[in-house]
Amino acid sequence: MKRYHLTTFGCQMNAHDSERIKGMLEELGLGEAVDQADADVMVFNTCTIREKPDQRFAAHLAQARALKEHDADKVIAVGGCYAEAQRERLFQLYPFVDVAFGPGTIPHLGEWLGAGGEGVARGSFGIGEERSFAGVLPMHRERRFQAWVQVSMGCNSKCAYCIVPSVRGREVSRRPGEVVAEITRLAREGVREITLLGQNVNSWGRDLAPDVRTDFGELLRACDSVAGIERIRFTSPHPKDFRDPVIAALAECEAVCEHVHLPLQSGSSRILKAMRRTYDRDRYLRLVDRLRAAVPDVALGTDIIVGFPGETEEDFAETLAVVQEVRYDSAFTFVFSPRGGTEAAGMPDQVPDDVKRDRIERLIAVVQRIAAERNAERIGRTEEVLVEGPSRTDSSLLRGRTRRNTTVNFAGDADAGDLVDVAIEGATSTTLRGRQAALVAA
Ligand code: 5AD
Ligand code: SF4
Repeated sequence: MKRYHLTTFGCQMNAHDSERIKGMLEELGLGEAVDQADADVMVFNTCTIREKPDQRFAAHLAQARALKEHDADKVIAVGGCYAEAQRERLFQLYPFVDVAFGPGTIPHLGEWLGAGGEGVARGSFGIGEERSFAGVLPMHRERRFQAWVQVSMGCNSKCAYCIVPSVRGREVSRRPGEVVAEITRLAREGVREITLLGQNVNSWGRDLAPDVRTDFGELLRACDSVAGIERIRFTSPHPKDFRDPVIAALAECEAVCEHVHLPLQSGSSRILKAMRRTYDRDRYLRLVDRLRAAVPDVALGTDIIVGFPGETEEDFAETLAVVQEVRYDSAFTFVFSPRGGTEAAGMPDQVPDDVKRDRIERLIAVVQRIAAERNAERIGRTEEVLVEGPSRTDSSLLRGRTRRNTTVNFAGDADAGDLVDVAIEGATSTTLRGRQAALVAA
């Protein structure tokens, strides 16, 4: 039997696409190789959001090249966002790559690789007729009780720093009936937690035909009514699309978790305008107030970029001030990375690297201090935890996640997939520690 090995970079959308890539390869009759060295077909699902993932991919690809030098029959396939962004240059940069394909054309993978991984049209970019949802393809799910569900693809925003719209195209929403049917099927297979995925998940629905047009709030309600689904998450939302009906659904749907990822990007209204985020500092802070009024114990996460072109020390101070005012439970922090073809890459007043590094270090220090304080506030409470398996750091403990999306390592005897109550006894900036109280629901 021929075997494949897949390496994934990037966001949850890419991780989800990878489950479909695996499903497609397995349908072609390939088995999964644990080690890349044992694979006949080496696949990379790439990301190009910042320069760093590009560089990590290049390092991995060098390893694959070395393997191929020993065995010329091995096939190297490169998919995803980097492949799409570099489709012209990919084969010049990496002539040993056999086939490349963009996100959204996974259904065609079989044609390009050929049954059994043979008969590949070497050195070509696979171009699909039409973009399509990965949701309709065979899938190799990593976890029995958790699943991603893609609700839209592409993005209609024009954030000045972001390459996603140019690689993933314009936004297309999946029809609500299709989404609910997939979730119902997943629930029957034992899935208890779903994460709705879209590049701009809460703008879902606007492009639908008039006869089925609804909004993201309605979609949350429809998902909430599926029997067996006990937790619903969604990512990534845009602050501009948190209209009242969406907030009401968050508050009223039992399965929708008390966790919202709310990308801030910058705390300076001047920079937000240059970024084309379409909200300013005050509107963002009012949204935080509305969310907290509707869902009092909501956990807030965010994404922040430092060193956007033109960012002054005063602008950065405003970002720090917003972080201190909101008190995020978690935050992803990024140094601005100019991406070819985006508006921001060509802007004047690019911020020097040493200034960016200094700012991100100061930001991380504040983010971590606050996250540790927020987590410490959970000590003494009991949290519902969905068990994921043994702890990564101590195999005598179990690991799971609270509804507020914090990882908990705890002493207990539950199985993966169980929902248990855990008494919280300790905290760091990223995890909680505790002891299982009792099974909540078998
Ligand atoms: N440079 C740095 N960070 C970026 N992000 C997106 N594009 C860039 C870029 N060019 C960050 C944003 C986004 C997250 C997924 O990545 O914060 O929300
Ligand atoms: Fe990376 Fe963005 Fe593509 Fe996700 S959508 S893989 S973050 S470039």
